[in-house]
Amino acid sequence: MKPAKNSRGEAPEYLTHSQKYRLDLKGWLTIPNVLEDDLVKEIKEYCEDVKAGEFKRNMFDSDAILYLSEHPVIMGILNELVSAQNCASDDAYGYRLENSFCIYREKTNTSSFKPHGGSGYYAADNRGHRYSCTPAEEFYHNFCQEADFSGFQGRLNTGLTRIVFEFNPVAYGTGTRFISGSHKAALNKSDEVADHDSDIWDSYECDPGSLILFTEAITHSGSQWKSDFPRIAVFNCYNTIDKKFHLSGPTEEQYERMTTLQKSLFREVWNHSFQGDFGGYLGPNDRISDSGHFAV
Ligand SMILES: [Fe+2]
Repeated sequence: MKPAKNSRGEAPEYLTHSQKYRLDLKGWLTIPNVLEDDLVKEIKEYCEDVKAGEFKRNMFDSDAILYLSEHPVIMGILNELVSAQNCASDDAYGYRLENSFCIYREKTNTSSFKPHGGSGYYAADNRGHRYSCTPAEEFYHNFCQEADFSGFQGRLNTGLTRIVFEFNPVAYGTGTRFISGSHKAALNKSDEVADHDSDIWDSYECDPGSLILFTEAITHSGSQWKSDFPRIAVFNCYNTIDKKFHLSGPTEEQYERMTTLQKSLFREVWNHSFQGDFGGYLGPNDRISDSGHFAV
């Protein structure tokens, strides 16, 4: 898959079959201890420096934060789950980074409990919060014996995709919460969804440097933070190249500092240029020439 290397020359690391199986079933996945201790320390200190206000939606002044979108594990996830590979190359990612913000949450009541999303499997294609998948060989053997789909692996697309990195220890139930499987829910939500303490909510505990991956198509929420130290987490949101949900992005000064690959994370929302082959990418000049501004 493309690109084969990030800006630092590192190769992507892909999810295992077990991780993808769990992600498809539940709509979210944790991967423990992804980041090195030095990187955890650097980003945690950066977040502490910018903690004015509850969060900041533009974290692109930090090279370490930018690297979170190019980390080999992130490249592997996004190349496989979100990328339009026909629009990717060794100079361009096939996905876009919509925003990056830090949550710095001190001990709270339940005010950060705000359930939203869900049932994205059934969402119309004009919504960003959409989950889709195609079945693998085993499905066709079980239900369509006459067809030959031998070797067909199946595919997942998580649509608007959130990847959270935690920079302090997280006790169970105090980070982000999920209703597992609700990205495929066909019925209206039941009353217990509004209950912070209901066991319908799943969550995780983890060490600093762990990541949580989820589709925005799942019902999810923040939670009551109970520890004496703050929750420090960076929330990055990704989308395929021809969809944009959030009005956000880097300033021109931040954009100019980036590598060509990093700039491709903020490419314009298009799939055909009228100037070349379908799926082309115009490099750092991939901007609408008469718009004259960045969305920030
Ligand atoms: Fe959300």
